[in-house]
Amino acid sequence: MAFVAPGAFVRGTRTNGAARSGSCLSHSAFTAPALPSRRVSVRAQTPPARLSMAATSARDLAAPARSGLLAINEEGGVHVQQRARPRRNRKSEGLRSMVRENVVTPANLIYPLFVHTEAENVPIPSMPGCVRHTVDSVVREVGEARALGVRSVILFPKIPEELKTNAADECYNPSGLVPTLVATLKAKYPDVAVWTDVALDPYSDQGHDGMVSDDKRGDGGCGRIMNDETVEQLCRQALCQARAGADVVAPSDMMDGRVGAIRDALDGAGFTDVSIVSYTAKYASAFYGPFRDALDSAPRESSNAPRNKKTYQMDPANSREALIEAALDVAEGADMLMIKPGMPYLDIIRRLREATDLPLAAYHVSGEYAMMKAAVERGWLDEREAVMESLLCFKRAGADAILTYYAKQAAEWMNE
Ligand code: PBG
Repeated sequence: MAFVAPGAFVRGTRTNGAARSGSCLSHSAFTAPALPSRRVSVRAQTPPARLSMAATSARDLAAPARSGLLAINEEGGVHVQQRARPRRNRKSEGLRSMVRENVVTPANLIYPLFVHTEAENVPIPSMPGCVRHTVDSVVREVGEARALGVRSVILFPKIPEELKTNAADECYNPSGLVPTLVATLKAKYPDVAVWTDVALDPYSDQGHDGMVSDDKRGDGGCGRIMNDETVEQLCRQALCQARAGADVVAPSDMMDGRVGAIRDALDGAGFTDVSIVSYTAKYASAFYGPFRDALDSAPRESSNAPRNKKTYQMDPANSREALIEAALDVAEGADMLMIKPGMPYLDIIRRLREATDLPLAAYHVSGEYAMMKAAVERGWLDEREAVMESLLCFKRAGADAILTYYAKQAAEWMNE
């Protein structure tokens, strides 16, 4: 790019930009030529004043002609010869809101809720403001969120230790916590879309999303997370949730082929209208830590399998791989694709937005919530501004729906 010395603008009277470099990226390409009929007077040759407060009074700074760097307009003020000024569309809230490209409404939000069978709500230390709800409390919470316009919730159960097994059979117990709660919620609020998570981890004594083999043929000489055996359990789980009245089942396990298998299982049992929102691009992320605290669902030291989920959740280093997952989920009949975590993965949301016309959901996960809360508690971030901006960023990146622990709070703000 041609460099135009400041002197080129201040020397003498300039009538047009023709004398400047012909490079298409030169300054002249962006600077409208001055009208030939109008003489632009400029202060020549004055060495620019150094903008140090010690040497320059505020009045000196306000006196435009002193800089000697810019053209002077008819009023004697400095003039950047710039016709296109994007700031004009930002000059008032009236204009800003008219040209705003994205908005988030409470209807875009899905509210994740933790529930347990104990008699009291229990706060989750790493997620200030979130609790494990009793059944009564979660019903109240859903009612409050609904009144604010949040029409979708997703349920995550903390299952008593004694009910956990490697096969996680409790996940399809029709009188288990989730099916019971789904039925209660649908009876009370038929217009709330109840989503359920499909994965074995809350029910697994290994803390894994799938069944663990008792051999040592897996990663690092550990047991394997058995794909197809797990998919069979997931089908049972999804069917059980559908029978209880779930509107949406959301497989978060990352087993291969589970979307198609669940679709067939649902269709075969008459649940053709139950939606599948697939956790399509779910990464093996450190940002799930607080969630696993909430449910006591982290991979166990006692497990025969590795203490991480890297053999099924995706490598955070990869983005092309998300397209492979997406193509499979689309072909297998997913109704909506999810990207998870959220904020650190906006590039993946954008990539999937360009690759599919299906709706996309982003999960603003527990660790992201915890980071925000921690900074807010220290007074380092303005909570409302930071949360609303984050939600908007998901939309801008290409997400239609956002799962966030802030759903109710954000809806309250949106209603103000
Ligand atoms: C379970 C599941 C997890 C989350 C949603 N479903 C945890 C995990 O995969 O270990 C994480 C949600 C969050 O961190 O907010 N399969």
